Amino acid sequence: MKIIPGGQTLGARIEGIDLANPVSREDFRAILRALGQYGVLCFPNQTCQTPQFAAFAKLFGELEVNVANLYYEPDFPEIMILSNMMGPDGKPLGLNDAGQGWHTDMSYSKDIALANILHAQRVPVRNGKSVGETQFRNMHAAYDELPADIKRKIEGRTAIHDFEKFWEIMRQRPGSRRGPLTDAQRAKKPPVSQPLVRIHPITGRKVLYADPGYTMYVEDMDPLESGLLLDFLFRHQERADFLYAHHWAVNDVLMWDNIGTVHNAVADYMPDEPRYMRRAQVMATLDYPALVA
Ligand code: OGA
Ligand code: MN
Repeated sequence: MKIIPGGQTLGARIEGIDLANPVSREDFRAILRALGQYGVLCFPNQTCQTPQFAAFAKLFGELEVNVANLYYEPDFPEIMILSNMMGPDGKPLGLNDAGQGWHTDMSYSKDIALANILHAQRVPVRNGKSVGETQFRNMHAAYDELPADIKRKIEGRTAIHDFEKFWEIMRQRPGSRRGPLTDAQRAKKPPVSQPLVRIHPITGRKVLYADPGYTMYVEDMDPLESGLLLDFLFRHQERADFLYAHHWAVNDVLMWDNIGTVHNAVADYMPDEPRYMRRAQVMATLDYPALVA
């Protein structure tokens, strides 16, 4: 196995490993370390099927089974399908609008996620170039580059994150199939409190943990001041040197650090340009500091 850094703020390719086969303990630990260091890992040319993909994902933590999820691989409720394609019966094959806006998966949940893993089955291509890229921002770098007074201001502070915020952002998009959350759905996803600064469990470094998708307000702070502070933090994240974009190829397995990055799916493809991804949501359920020690 070879880890090849891309030389940008995030991103590395991992070659010489076939995820259809069991991963050695040594490779597993090297992948985990690389996840913290590079944030976004691409394993190109992977042709494994759903059971092997699920087995690989499960090495890193428990997989979340989304109770509201209609779209998953047969017999694998933990492997979700993201797609704009329709089946022969005219029904959607997958969730067609996942992640279209900057966010951190599961930040609205008390138990947070370590990583996401997508396996590209179909990638839209136009004029010989893939479209539908996924963008990432480096939250290790974003924290490091904060002004000292802002670092002091956010240290030890918490913010409220709410599932409904991003749901509504996506629902307002033209052509959205989403309805308003029902009271029952809302009750299942109550707003939660998260630290604004986290110690990353792999790198041991501080990361900025605030995302435009879910972060609502800073607790125990005047609402106006909280709004200005979050606005500052979100704009700070937009710095061009924190940005990395993954341009997909068929059979890419892409694994990203969901604590040290925020991400955004760019929906610049049309309904007749098919995209199909298998997806695993890896929860942060293991003792990562011990695993990388
Ligand atoms: C996700 C997500 C991005 C994409 O799966 O959580 O945001 O490009 N997907 O599909
Ligand atoms: Mn996402």
